Amino acid sequence: MNLNLTTKDIKTDIKIVLVFNKKIKEDKEILKLLDFKGEDESCVLLPELGKLYVGSLNDDKDSIRVAVATAIKKLNTTNYKSISIKVKKSLKAYVEGFELGNYNFDKYRSKKDKKEEKNIYLEVDKISTKLQQEFEEAVIISESVNMVRDFVNTTPDDFYPSIMAAKAIDIAKENELKCKILDEDYLQEHGMNAMLAVGRASRHKSKLIHLTYKPKKAKRKIVLIGKGLTYDSGGLSLKPSDFMTTMKSDKSGGSAVLGIIKAVSDLNLPIEVDAIIGAVENMIGGDAYKPDDILKAKNGTTIEVKNTDAEGRLVLADCLCYAQDEIKDFDYILDFATLTGACVVGVGQYTSGVMGNNNQLNWQFVQSALDSGELATSLPFNRYLGKTLKSQIADICNISSTRYGGAITAGMFLDKFIKDKNKDKWIHVDIAGPAFVEKDWGYNPYGASGAGVRMTMEFLQTL
Ligand code: BES
Ligand code: ZN
Ligand code: ZN
Repeated sequence: MNLNLTTKDIKTDIKIVLVFNKKIKEDKEILKLLDFKGEDESCVLLPELGKLYVGSLNDDKDSIRVAVATAIKKLNTTNYKSISIKVKKSLKAYVEGFELGNYNFDKYRSKKDKKEEKNIYLEVDKISTKLQQEFEEAVIISESVNMVRDFVNTTPDDFYPSIMAAKAIDIAKENELKCKILDEDYLQEHGMNAMLAVGRASRHKSKLIHLTYKPKKAKRKIVLIGKGLTYDSGGLSLKPSDFMTTMKSDKSGGSAVLGIIKAVSDLNLPIEVDAIIGAVENMIGGDAYKPDDILKAKNGTTIEVKNTDAEGRLVLADCLCYAQDEIKDFDYILDFATLTGACVVGVGQYTSGVMGNNNQLNWQFVQSALDSGELATSLPFNRYLGKTLKSQIADICNISSTRYGGAITAGMFLDKFIKDKNKDKWIHVDIAGPAFVEKDWGYNPYGASGAGVRMTMEFLQTL
């Protein structure tokens, strides 16, 4: 697919017509015969007229994205080559609708669907520098989202910690980023025993990935941390088979962080970014870490393991310590993780949970997410849930003593590894729900969604 910005009324095979709020303006008779009412996500192709009518719930950005994605999915079932659409309101939404709706992961198909590339013309009144920039930005961000989707969709046997590190090295080379890949010897020498324990039974060695983007005149400095569990079997607290499938998606946080730093660099944003990913595989075996083990994290905190399936927080604990020890004077520290099933139960599979000690920052981030088209809400900490992490014999347990509020207790576990001076700078984003799409919704086909990238780009662009 080729996206072009144009001011001309180009003659194309098909014109896409979006119908907002079911207000049909032309071709009423034929559309009535075809029973097209302009319902959300419905469409009808009129080949003789060279038009594709698509219903759009509203004319807000996300309705446009969904409608445009509906259009491109329909057109992908045809051989039409040139397509045009009039852009109203938000160019960004049209670009994202096409780019994200057109995504197709066919790496593992023996027969690829080889259709001729489509040329899409986005018709605008005038191509100002600002509009051109908006177009390029939207393309860059969407391409990053699609790169993240490719990473996450790749199977665990083709995407393990050293492969994730290799991907990070590629991104670093293309974007002239600084790149450190730290191995298990480093983790051992620096007391990162929580992260180390999680990967112990895997044949794939754990990697700590650290990329830095440092523009000449940075006005802000941000640290991003991602859970990169290339597979989460649950460990000895083994997941039941139905829950284990899709756990290749447990690297979504780490993958999102790679997508964000790539997009920030492609856009030359004046923001310094450090991206840290704990790339680990959680497996079973004679050398596996066990419930009853007590692990000492990098900051000296001792953790009683009660469930080896609560592994993400152990990896993140050490990554958070590493970031705060190694990176000086940052403005914000954000972590992204498919951390808990409880978050999905609590807020549904479409929404991310945003947590932290700074309520104003939580809501600011939620607003950025909503503006970007990603769903998120704030999940507030409280002192009572914090106490449920107490251990009888160590400083803290890796699971809570109550089964309620699991997303928040996981967030509060991470809080124990945030230094006092950084408490107000930190947010934790649980993307367990939206990161992996089991039944397509909106412009997200089955599989990885690339959750976390657009919300963070919006947040960074508003700083
Ligand atoms: N990776 C999972 C969380 C998850 C669940 C992500 C569903 C995406 C979809 C995490 O490591 C995990 O297993 N968490 C446990 C925590 C429990 C043992 C306290 C969970 O949510 O069940
Ligand atoms: Zn787990
Ligand atoms: Zn996990």
